[in-house]
Amino acid sequence: MVDPSTAKRLVRVIIDNLPKPVGARRPVHTLGIGVKGEFVASDVARTYCIAEHFNGKPVDASVRFSNGLGGPDRHDGWSDVRGMAVRFHLSDGLGSDLIATTLGEFFVRNVDDFFEFSEIAKLAPYQRESWWRKLGDLLQLKVPRRNPYPSETRSVDAGALQYADMHRFAQLGVFQVGLIGAPVSYARAPYHAVHTFWVTAPDGVRRPVRFSWQPVAGVCNTAPTDELRDDYLRAELKDRLRRWPARFMLMMMIGEAGDAFDDCTKPWPGTRTRIAMGTLTLTKVADDQEKDGERISFNPNRLAPGIDPSEDPILKARLGAYEASREMRGGCPFKWRPDNAK
Ligand code: HEM
Repeated sequence: MVDPSTAKRLVRVIIDNLPKPVGARRPVHTLGIGVKGEFVASDVARTYCIAEHFNGKPVDASVRFSNGLGGPDRHDGWSDVRGMAVRFHLSDGLGSDLIATTLGEFFVRNVDDFFEFSEIAKLAPYQRESWWRKLGDLLQLKVPRRNPYPSETRSVDAGALQYADMHRFAQLGVFQVGLIGAPVSYARAPYHAVHTFWVTAPDGVRRPVRFSWQPVAGVCNTAPTDELRDDYLRAELKDRLRRWPARFMLMMMIGEAGDAFDDCTKPWPGTRTRIAMGTLTLTKVADDQEKDGERISFNPNRLAPGIDPSEDPILKARLGAYEASREMRGGCPFKWRPDNAK
C-alpha cells in the first residue's frame, strides 16, 4: 500500500486536472448509474476458487456503470472509457469488489508513471488540426482524432499521445483510449479488471488470473455517423431493464509462467485458458441512486477470502487512493477485512 500522503496526492492531481469542480463526487468516473442484480457462479467456478460468490449459490450484486471522464458535464456520446464497478454482497457483510473498464490494458505501470502521465497529459486548449497535420500524424501511426466535440474546448488526448510517444509501455492503453468510441448501452460493452489477482482452489492451488465481463447481448458501439447525444445511457438502461434483464458473463483468464503478473500495461497471450466463472443478471436500476450508486465506495482491494491482490503497484496504490477519494467526497465508510487493508 502507498503511504497516505501519496494516496492523497494521487487524488489531488486528478482533481487539479478536472475541467470543472465536481463537489462531493468522484473526481473520475464522475457520472454513473447504480443498478441491482444477482450473480450465480458456473459449475466449474468453485473448482478454481473458494471465494463465497463462486460456490454456486446466488449472491446479490450492486453495480455502478460510469463514464470515465471526470467532471460534472454529461457527454454520453463522446469517445470515452466506461466503468463497471461490482460489489458481490457476501454473508459476512463485507463483500468483494471487482472494478473494470472498457480498456483492456492500463497506460501506466506504477505510481511514478502516474504522476508523470498526469503532468504531461494535462488538459490543454484544443487546437484544430490542419489536414496536412492530420496526414502527418497518420503517417507516423498516431491515433486519428475526430474534430472536437461540439462543447469541447480542451483536448483530452493530446498530452496522452505525447506521453505515449515517449513511453512504449503506454502505447497500447493510450491507443485503445483514442479509438474506444461510445457504446449504444452500458449493457453492450466488455469490461476488464486489468490487474492480476491470485485465486485459491479447494485443493490449495493458487493461480494468477485476470477477470473480464462479457455482455451476453453482444458488444455494440454507436456509429461515427450517428447524431451525437449527450444523455442517453441512463435512459437506455432503465428502458432495457424494464423489458428484460441484462446479463454479463464473468470470464477468468489463467496466466502462465512468463506472463506479466505485476504490470497492467502488458497483455497476456490470447491463447491462455479462459474459464466462464458465472453470470451476472441485472434486473433494475436502483431506486435510491444516492445510496446505491453515488455514496457506495468500491475498492479493487476489497476481496473475499480466496482472492488475493497481486504485487501490481497500481493495484496496491488504488487501495489508499480510493479510500482518500471516498473520505474527500463523504462516501459510505466500509468495514475492511484485516487482510484487505494491508
Ligand atoms: C494509479 C492509478 C489509478 C488512480 C490514481 C485511480 C483513481 C481513482 C479514483 C480517485 C476514483 C474515485 C474513487 C471514489 O471516489 O470512490 C476512481 C474510480 C474508478 N476507477 Fe480508478 N484509478 C486508477 C486506476 C484505475 C484502473 C487501472 C482502473 C481499471 C480497472 C480504474 C477504474 C476505475 C473505475 C471504473 C472507477 C469508478 C468506480 C465507481 O463507480 O465507484 N482505475 N479511480
